[in-house]
Amino acid sequence: MLPPGLRIPKAASTLWWMRDPFGLMDRCAKRFGEPYTMGILGFPPIVVTYTPETVKQIFADGGDTFAAGKFNRSLAPLLGDKSVLMLDGAEHLRHRRLLLPPFHGERMKAYGEVMLAAADAKIDQWSQGDVFALHPHMQEITLRVIIRTIFGFDEGPRFDEMMRRMKRILDLGAWPGLLIQAMQVDLGPRSPWGKFRRAVAAGDEYLFESIAERRQSGARGNDVLSLLLDARDEEGRAMTDAELRDELTTLLVAGHETSATALAWAVRWILGTPGLAYRLRTEIEDAVRADGTKRLTAARAAELPLVDSICREALRLNPVVPLVGRVLERPVRVAGYDLPEGTPVVCSIYLAQRRPEVYPDPTRFDPTRFLGKKLSPSEFFPFGGGMRRCIGMSFALYEMRIVLARIFERAQLSLASPRPVRPERRSITLMPSEGLIVRVAA
Ligand code: HEM
Repeated sequence: MLPPGLRIPKAASTLWWMRDPFGLMDRCAKRFGEPYTMGILGFPPIVVTYTPETVKQIFADGGDTFAAGKFNRSLAPLLGDKSVLMLDGAEHLRHRRLLLPPFHGERMKAYGEVMLAAADAKIDQWSQGDVFALHPHMQEITLRVIIRTIFGFDEGPRFDEMMRRMKRILDLGAWPGLLIQAMQVDLGPRSPWGKFRRAVAAGDEYLFESIAERRQSGARGNDVLSLLLDARDEEGRAMTDAELRDELTTLLVAGHETSATALAWAVRWILGTPGLAYRLRTEIEDAVRADGTKRLTAARAAELPLVDSICREALRLNPVVPLVGRVLERPVRVAGYDLPEGTPVVCSIYLAQRRPEVYPDPTRFDPTRFLGKKLSPSEFFPFGGGMRRCIGMSFALYEMRIVLARIFERAQLSLASPRPVRPERRSITLMPSEGLIVRVAA
């Protein structure tokens, strides 16, 4: 027997999920508690969990029982079958081991200057009195950073062409309808799926060219592509061109849209919380004064405690990806229910991170919850968990801290839409509505 759930047609709950996923999760959690069942077109009934005990059970699995790749299949048309997100078992582990090193520790810190430069280039374009949607600006910053990080291209025509092709894929792919399998039909170059497939093909052409060129020239740098070309698994095997294409696309997509959206939410909360922008600016000015530098350095920006806790609190209250999913490889007992093989089970990041037992007054934005504290990985997991935890977690947090600190060091922004800010869907992520309209004050 499955856990209880709303007795409404699957099409109705899918529409609700697309339009207002937080509202749907709140309603079900209030009515049924953990676990409950949710109907989404294209899936068998999905079991939703969110208490630390269950989340711990799911994240502790080595992949034999809870398979993430099977759950992520709807992303395959963009990311490809050989993307780490799509794989399970030994192949997943092989890809994960090849991908992890470029995003760790000291190596990641080498990208700090690129992050600062990308933020500066955007802020330089802002003038006093400008009113604009911030999200596309954040996307441009994070896309610039990830392209530089992955390919090492210097800015120029090649870089601009890659930016253009990637932007087109992501803009066309942003429509959530494309996640529904029934919509994934190519009815010619004007149909939504047809347009999307052609944009992906144009991006692929460029990716394969870049891989071939790099293989032929033998040129290597500090970029992720160089590291992946030289990476070998335990049996000495290198990645094939097809594997490289899928992983580069995965890193480009997973590594920029998410970070841009998280940054937009952080700015939303700073501007919407009285006195916070002032406290943030004071922290930044004190750091610059103490260092005797003209501007904040990347290393210093990444160490500021208030900046860091703002990033974490924004990811708590508005997790960019609201849930992570697995499919059962065998029958297993979850949250008191014996579930059959093939059942999709999700951990709701959104519900777990708003439990009043862990987060008193959970809907209030309060970065002091994170100041000097470390929360358990089953109570705070905006990057998922266990052996599937986000490969780019440290990179994303590093980038968020640097870009956010730079924005508040250099610009005075205020919220400028007469309408309240609410979560709005963009593909699998949830961004601030209208892209967060802001005004530049000085
Ligand atoms: C704020 C920014 C980001 C958020 C909120 C985020 C969130 C997530 C989440 C929720 C997952 C699924 C984890 C699970 O199933 O348990 C994931 C996986 C992944 N993310 Fe991120 N991510 C971010 C940035 C990045 C960046 C910058 C990169 C790379 C440059 C990246 C690469 C990946 C990859 C490759 C996976 C698949 C891991 C696997 O299946 O083993 N992400 N991310």
